[in-house]
Amino acid sequence: MNYYVMTLFPEMIENGMHTSIIGRAIERGCLSLSTVNIRDYSVTGNGRIDDYPYGGGAGMVMQAEPVYRAYEALAGRLGRRPRLIYLTPQGRVFDQGMAVSFAVEQELVFLCGHYEGVDERVLDEIVTDFVSIGDYVLTGGELAAMVMMDAISRMVPGVLSNQESGQYESFQDGLLEYPQYSRPEEWRGRLVPPVLLSGHHGKVGRWRRDQSLLRTLKSRPELLEKAELDRYDRDYLQRLARGEAGAVTPEEQSFLAKLLAISEKA
Ligand code: ADE
Repeated sequence: MNYYVMTLFPEMIENGMHTSIIGRAIERGCLSLSTVNIRDYSVTGNGRIDDYPYGGGAGMVMQAEPVYRAYEALAGRLGRRPRLIYLTPQGRVFDQGMAVSFAVEQELVFLCGHYEGVDERVLDEIVTDFVSIGDYVLTGGELAAMVMMDAISRMVPGVLSNQESGQYESFQDGLLEYPQYSRPEEWRGRLVPPVLLSGHHGKVGRWRRDQSLLRTLKSRPELLEKAELDRYDRDYLQRLARGEAGAVTPEEQSFLAKLLAISEKA
């Protein structure tokens, strides 16, 4: 995977990406990262790339031409026109499924806006994907681009040392991750759940799956509506709904009752 980031703050991207797992993957050659300073494509000769918005209003707008030239120069060098992702709160909200589908690309280009935005005409002309990382407003697209690159990179073969660690984590199968414990067995009076010390792989697996279901119910119940649930999962959720397995609120019980009625009909 080769990443290209069009930005006014290349050092922010370089500093953020050359650390930890992603930094090591870049060193090993599993990933590459190049930044493009949009300011280098200023058309005014003094490095300015923004101007006042037509129609008035606060803030400045990034001009179309420098952004266009930056992308065209890159596409010319590559001999291809890779997907161009514009980071914006107006975009489609990023999720794990999008990370998986972006990870198969050979190249991805990110356009990081600043000020009040980017002239709409250049966005219409060159952007292929409008992506938001959540319903809040950042001061620029750089952090959002780094969030996306981090999540996408984990899905690129060879980036994680143990491919399994990518497979079983939250969202891979539409559920949140189960809790993890390490030594000591007792910490400040809190014990590791005994089933994890039993050495019984089947029971450990079932317990973890149940914990994933319970956590998802408590924190992100809407994910349960889309998750693939087997007979054992539904059994556990039935018991939760009846108040026979774990502490669930009356609201959670009625949510489950509806969910199970629906998924049994389907
Ligand atoms: N730029 C500013 N806010 C953003 C967000 N929430 N997601 C992506 N890009 C942004």
